[in-house]
Amino acid sequence: MRKILVTGGAGYIGSHTVLELIEAGYEPIILDNFSNSSPFMIAQLEAITGSRLTVVPIDLCNESAVRDFINQNSDIHDVIHFAAFKAVGQSVEQPLSYYHNNIQGLINLLRAFEGRAVNFVFSSSCTVYGEVTNLPVRETEEVKAAASPYGQTKLMAEIILRDVAKANPLLKVISLRYFNPVGAHASGRIGELPIGAPQNLFPVITQTAIGKRAKMTVFGQDYDTPDGTAMRDYIHVVDLAKAHISAIRLMEQAGDSAPYRVYNIGTGNGYTILEVIQAFERETGVKLAYDMGARRSGDVPKIYGDAGLAERELSWKASLGLTEMIVSAWAWEQFVAEKTKSGELTA
Ligand code: WQD
Repeated sequence: MRKILVTGGAGYIGSHTVLELIEAGYEPIILDNFSNSSPFMIAQLEAITGSRLTVVPIDLCNESAVRDFINQNSDIHDVIHFAAFKAVGQSVEQPLSYYHNNIQGLINLLRAFEGRAVNFVFSSSCTVYGEVTNLPVRETEEVKAAASPYGQTKLMAEIILRDVAKANPLLKVISLRYFNPVGAHASGRIGELPIGAPQNLFPVITQTAIGKRAKMTVFGQDYDTPDGTAMRDYIHVVDLAKAHISAIRLMEQAGDSAPYRVYNIGTGNGYTILEVIQAFERETGVKLAYDMGARRSGDVPKIYGDAGLAERELSWKASLGLTEMIVSAWAWEQFVAEKTKSGELTA
């Protein structure tokens, strides 16, 4: 089976992509230092698939360890690169650790593969667009300096990958610009496992619903949207995972020579915060305790993506809607509560 190196493969999107890779007949090699993920996820993946997974506990910032591992595994020609710090607020407080981890880690990985033919899929983000007025946003939209160091590392990584791919005929790169990944695998056994208090909307909603939080705050109610709350393009993490397989397949196609491509991975639908909250209450029957607060600094008012290019060139299109996102996220939160109670998962 063709081996695919999945850096950050124990993480939220990484773990869901590992499942889809196995489903598609590939052999995922999970490289993860577990700085922002849990070995619990590996155990869950092995339980779901019934197979042992190869896990390489290396930190991408350890240049010699990365180089030695890649040199000892000359049969790896495909990489899906998730490993990075990703908390917007934390990146503002600790910019240097974000630039070191996210950029030096990428450079070490690229250097280790020099001289080898590689198909490289990069986990980018719609955050590179910054505030957009021309919606739905297309890949041709001008990218802007991001409001946070986290977003800056995504933008810088895209520039590095584009330049290195253009200079190195052995390297092909596809950057996938995610919109807002949410939800969980249908098994209810893997999902987003925030380390510490989550900042992003769906885990905040499900933790409020299950009672881990007394209440939540809706950040801002004076945006130019139907109900005044911010709008986002939420994409089910399983749809998102499948896009990575589509990207690998495109680069495997003989004669595909484009060194660097970028695709929006979203649904094209925008939902406001209140619409998500109301949908959650409707789908689960759980009343959410929330209040209306001030805008959160760094937030863009509204963004949703045009994923037509991915549909045409990757033959990929999101198929799961808001209901599946909510129902799967809620099932996962309940699973986490059960495993925390039994002691199988530390809070
Ligand atoms: C969504 C909306 C909040 C929490 C960022 C990154 C993106 C990706 C996901 C990593 C905003 C509102 C949130 C709360 C709220 N990063 N909200 N109350 O900021 O769109 O995207 O995280 O994978 O690259 O940019 O996601 O979920 O934090 O916020 O009202 O308690 O929900 O203000 O409008 P965001 P988010």
